[in-house]
Amino acid sequence: MRGIGYGGDYNPEQWPESTWPEDIRLMTEAGVNLVTVGVFSWSRLQPAPGELTVGWLDRVLDLLAEAGIGVDLATGTASPPHWLVAAHPEILPVTADGKRLAPSSRQHYCPSAPAFRAAAADLAGRMARRYAGHPAVTMWHVSNEYGCDVPACYCELSAEAFRDWLRTRYGELDRLNEAWGGAVWSQDYTSWDQVEPPRTAPSFANPTQQLDFARFSSDELLACYRAEREVVAAHSPGTPVTTNFLYLSRPVDQFRWAAEVDVVSVDSYPDPANTEAHLFSAMTCDMTRSVGGGRPWVLMEQATSAVNWRAVNVPKAPGQYRALSLQAVARGGDAVLSFQWRAAATGAEKFHSGMLPHAGTDSRVWREVVGLGADLSRLAQVAGSRVPAEVALLLDWESWWALELDSHPSRLRLTELIREFYRPLFEAGVNADFAHPERDLSGYRLVLVPALYLVSNAGADNVRQYAADGGTVLISFFSGIVDPDDRIRLGGYPAPWRGLLGLRVEEFAPLTEGAVVRLDGEAGDAGDAGANGDERLAVGRVWQDAIDLHGAEPLLRYAEGRLAGQAAVTRHTYGRGEAFYLGTLPDRATLRVLVEQACRYAGVEFRTDLPAGVEAVRRGDHLFLISHLDRPVELDLGGKSLDLLTSDIVGPAVVLGPRGVLVLTARD
Ligand code: GLA
Ligand code: GLA
Repeated sequence: MRGIGYGGDYNPEQWPESTWPEDIRLMTEAGVNLVTVGVFSWSRLQPAPGELTVGWLDRVLDLLAEAGIGVDLATGTASPPHWLVAAHPEILPVTADGKRLAPSSRQHYCPSAPAFRAAAADLAGRMARRYAGHPAVTMWHVSNEYGCDVPACYCELSAEAFRDWLRTRYGELDRLNEAWGGAVWSQDYTSWDQVEPPRTAPSFANPTQQLDFARFSSDELLACYRAEREVVAAHSPGTPVTTNFLYLSRPVDQFRWAAEVDVVSVDSYPDPANTEAHLFSAMTCDMTRSVGGGRPWVLMEQATSAVNWRAVNVPKAPGQYRALSLQAVARGGDAVLSFQWRAAATGAEKFHSGMLPHAGTDSRVWREVVGLGADLSRLAQVAGSRVPAEVALLLDWESWWALELDSHPSRLRLTELIREFYRPLFEAGVNADFAHPERDLSGYRLVLVPALYLVSNAGADNVRQYAADGGTVLISFFSGIVDPDDRIRLGGYPAPWRGLLGLRVEEFAPLTEGAVVRLDGEAGDAGDAGANGDERLAVGRVWQDAIDLHGAEPLLRYAEGRLAGQAAVTRHTYGRGEAFYLGTLPDRATLRVLVEQACRYAGVEFRTDLPAGVEAVRRGDHLFLISHLDRPVELDLGGKSLDLLTSDIVGPAVVLGPRGVLVLTARD
């Protein structure tokens, strides 16, 4: 593709053929150049086992090719047809409490069921054989949002596959017993046949069993993806293959998965009712770019306005679809697609917005769709460029799964914690990547470690070495607590990083929901964090660590409560680097000061001139300035610059309209 891709899911089989020419005409009017076809079309592609029945799809693809619109062609396997379920009822997934799910929706398959895998690979192969080389086919789209509706299956077939997976991981049953803590609650196994998925149990299921089942479930879904990808690649070599990830989503380990797709793609559905929708979507964009190692990626789905699946579905504000779409481009996206082209008239998603709404072209949404198409066509030169980042937030799906298991000191939610640390970076125009703890960190000046509960020896050493070599780290509470077996690292927390941090945590004292504890600053710049230059009190939230100092300097202390007088936030020089530790979650303003300090230590530019709600992102040679405000805002650009969207020279003073966007040629 040249330039930025633009379009959405196109489901022509839901409409009479007489509407198709109108679809093509309107796509052309909107500047659409890429559509996803066939995601849920299995029953119309294969009404019965065997041959494809695709006259309709031939005609659709030919129409799109004639109009010069590329197709991200689905393998069509995301929703098994009723005839397959009737022939193989065992493909229906089973929940942890033994309920078999009905086929009246979608994604109703057990990833370990051989009959499902065979049927999916068969369909994918037939699709690839027939459409390889079709002039419209730009990319292959395997299945859809693996793990979204059914993240794991607990049936007998899954149990067998889980045992096989465990045999590969542990070899000997004794090693499994050791890893799973078999001595606790009489959990030793004497035969592999006794091992089951962590089904609903009287009390907490064995945590390592649960963790291994999360690993296994991600791997089983990945095996489904691989089986389809292999047959597609065999018949359609050279055409890139993707599968769309779900935003900030726990079930699949995106670092592992991203290595297996040619193009990383993601679906992003921030809630417009949330005043920080743009923060969630920015995190999604950065995560997607990061799992792909910085390659340009595809925003495969978003909503032009409302979705249908929340309790209350608020439409996007005027300009919000545009602002969030341009945010995706700013953060490395090379294509902006929506679910779906034409808002459906029937079925479960008929109240989900589309690019072409029920109201037709005389509508706000349609006008915005046409407007965005024109904007994106002006950004062609941005495509392919990289998003430089000097800061990384460590993220590991295995740690995420383990962190959110039950029977912990407190119920922490990783994406909520990450958001706290991401927010100040976002507000200061600091580009950040997400990085796996074991990857080379030397390219970053600052590494943030929010609640990395589980860490391997290699990951722990990597972080330590990074600091020793001159990096700056900022580590939060409940990091470095367990090893990959979910076994506590003993001797005081966080065992692998006590030397790095110059402290030892003796005990956790989590705070109840909504409770806060006052914090006091110390001398020097550290005091700024506590007092913050105003009368506002610094407080801690969520968590308190009881910290013994072993060389670290306290920046903030608990000013009240059981830990009054003890260190809450510290700094320690380690090797050539600097290590900050947060034993509590400071209020937003205080956390912002601390992250700013860490940035300054690390030599990362931390802008304080951006009005709240205005995002600044550097991509390649361009600086994107995006307002998420519903009122105009004044900016000082510090000079004159060319805006790619309007071709106007703007600045130094400029007024950005509500949800306005500038794409400036960056000056060094
Ligand atoms: C109960 C059980 C114990 C232990 C404690 C933990 O009392 O009998 O085995 O699990 O709860 O609080
Ligand atoms: C998911 C699915 C789409 C559609 C959208 C609706 O992302 O992949 O098929 O159901 O949700 O928001």
